[in-house]
Amino acid sequence: MARVNTRLAVVNGRLVTPSGVRPGVVLVADGRIAAVVDSVPEHVPVLDAAGRYVLPGLIDSHVHFRTPGLEHKEDWEHGSRAAVAGGVTTVLDMPNTVPPTLHPDAVVAKARRIAGRSLVDYAFHIGADPLHPEVLVDLDPAVARSAKVFMAGHHTAPTVVDDPEVLDKVFAAAAVSGVRLVLHAEDQRLHDLLDAWRGGPPDAYRDYERWRPRSSPISAVVRVLELVRRHGTAAHILHLSSAEEADLVAAAAAEGLPVTFELTAHHLSFTDADTARGGARTRLAPAIRGPRDQDRLWAALRAGEVATLGSDHAPHTAAEKERPVADAPPGLPGVQELATAVWTGMRRRWPEEDPDTAVRRLVRHLAERPAELFGLAGKGRLVAGADADLVVFDPDHRWMLSASDVEAKCGWSAYEGWTFTGRVQLTVKSGRIAYDRERGTFGDPVGRWLSPLAEEPVEELTEESTTESPTEREGTGNG
Ligand code: DOR
Ligand code: ZN
Repeated sequence: MARVNTRLAVVNGRLVTPSGVRPGVVLVADGRIAAVVDSVPEHVPVLDAAGRYVLPGLIDSHVHFRTPGLEHKEDWEHGSRAAVAGGVTTVLDMPNTVPPTLHPDAVVAKARRIAGRSLVDYAFHIGADPLHPEVLVDLDPAVARSAKVFMAGHHTAPTVVDDPEVLDKVFAAAAVSGVRLVLHAEDQRLHDLLDAWRGGPPDAYRDYERWRPRSSPISAVVRVLELVRRHGTAAHILHLSSAEEADLVAAAAAEGLPVTFELTAHHLSFTDADTARGGARTRLAPAIRGPRDQDRLWAALRAGEVATLGSDHAPHTAAEKERPVADAPPGLPGVQELATAVWTGMRRRWPEEDPDTAVRRLVRHLAERPAELFGLAGKGRLVAGADADLVVFDPDHRWMLSASDVEAKCGWSAYEGWTFTGRVQLTVKSGRIAYDRERGTFGDPVGRWLSPLAEEPVEELTEESTTESPTEREGTGNG
């Protein structure tokens, strides 16, 4: 896509750059940051940040925008609006769609479907195929640089890699090509064993955490660390839920193994008491655990042990969530709430921390580290030469979230009624306004696939996915 010839100066901001927070002016030209300077040149349209922070566009490396096949839950029009309303200008989308994107052709087909519909830029995690782990050996980095592995199943996880031999092959294949594995680390065999003994899911959310206990991700993480040790594969473990997982991954990383982890806003924001009280909205895989675990996850953010913060934006319709416990699918929308929820928690937990230090922490894990991990050139840093993706963020604005604020297609949020600290005022993507809160307006869907393949003429791309088309597994009582 041709770059637009915009010239713009973002003035009066506190710029959150890799070397620290500083006052200054961001000059934008042709969709890129032309320079960071001290004063405003003449004849350039000005955007006034009014003393607020100016962040690089945030990166959510974990969203499920549900295309293809599950567009009744979410689509790119809604998902990308939710993203820019939350300051997110780049997303990495997950493969558990219908059909799942397990092969390069399916990824290309998905990219073509999305073209012209997204306000944000995007890239994809391909899915690890248990029947064809060899796909990862020579995976073209233009298609994907990372592969999602579901080690356990639930409603929207159709392709589970639960056979230890196959998992070993997946790690070996990814080690050859340098593909980073991103893992949903829960233990399917442990779930099967418990279900056979205890029966199906509980009929009340009170018992939900026990039904999908901490032993499951802990066991899966131990297996992942063994495989990383054996093969040297780069592994990023998603949505840590327990203190033990954080200890295990931090210890392995300290030893020099190439392992990193993600924390989600919901595991930082809610506890099992919220699930017991509020039910399906915080029914998640992995489950939300207790305050002691939550404290350890926050400590991992404070200590910089975590690599990325992600939303795991995984919407389901309100009707789906209202089903009996056995059939209510796990997942919640969150790309819009991600940065604000984490910022709110940071300010509440660590009120003594200098806000400039805190905002640098936010940007490190929501922009710089995801860009590094997933090879997103030009993203994640407010520096000259980078893409002009910018967010004006008011760190002090207090507001209560209600359903009418929700941009996700499902129309609900687990945070309804929460009072947040901090609000995204304006989001700029590639030098153009993507979201203006005061005006209540969104920009055009000029988001692009961050791949050289995006520029290729359509006829050179393979038309159809070769993948089978499984339907969503509903009502299996399997999470
Ligand atoms: O709770 C979850 N929902 N966890 C996942 O890993 C996937 C997600 C979904 O796709 O609904
Ligand atoms: Zn997910």
